[in-house]
Amino acid sequence: MIQGKMIYEGKAKQVFVTDDPTLAVIHYKDDATAFNGLKRGTVVGKGVVNNLVSNHLFKLLAGHGVESHFVEQLNDRDTLVHRVEIVPVEVIVRNIAAGSLSKRIGYPEGTKLRCTVLEYCYKDDDLGDPMINETHIAAMGLATPEEMATIAAMALKVNEVLTAYLMGLNLSLIDFKLEFGRFEGRILLADEISPDTCRFWDARTGEKLDKDRFRRDLGDVEEAYQEILNRLMGA
Ligand code: C5P
Repeated sequence: MIQGKMIYEGKAKQVFVTDDPTLAVIHYKDDATAFNGLKRGTVVGKGVVNNLVSNHLFKLLAGHGVESHFVEQLNDRDTLVHRVEIVPVEVIVRNIAAGSLSKRIGYPEGTKLRCTVLEYCYKDDDLGDPMINETHIAAMGLATPEEMATIAAMALKVNEVLTAYLMGLNLSLIDFKLEFGRFEGRILLADEISPDTCRFWDARTGEKLDKDRFRRDLGDVEEAYQEILNRLMGA
């Protein structure tokens, strides 16, 4: 496999083509942004943690029948993936109120929700990723109703598998964001699952071990990311 030119640079990742049109390489950076790019910084070692954490969780999910774009970890910061066509819908899964949901519905952070909440956002930085519903998705042609049914079922399965697994590591999975892609007629889980895209709270103390430490200037950001990696790797 020969790595070619960069085709995409996001806030935290770069994507490169390879000599195989069905494969791409993702490179994880230490750059951190929040509030749609208004806050910028660096979290030393974040790229390594996110790469290793995400790959570990994708492998776990594969064992439970959830197929992702993950193919092979190349090194601490680079991973080979199936080259998917990203569905421009961010899927947010919530078990406990926090962040923007707490603001929107007035529930204090940490309030348990009676059932899992699924939210959809239109992936568009210029618009600030606005929340949309399934009829918007159909009306805008972002995904078909059949694709959305698959995506919703996969998101709930990811939640079920990760919630149970993380509870065994004394971590509460508060909420998280997923992205999906089209590949050879199927829907694959794509992007990453990491402390950048999930809220992880220590199940006993409630300590935040995720990107909220960066967003809210809580300090010990690097340590929180490392702690997640250590728990997942059993250190
Ligand atoms: O900000 P909000 O409370 O809506 O975020 C819900 C979850 O989705 C959080 O875990 C957050 O890290 C994640 N998220 C994300 N990327 C976005 C928006 C939210 O990873 N663009």
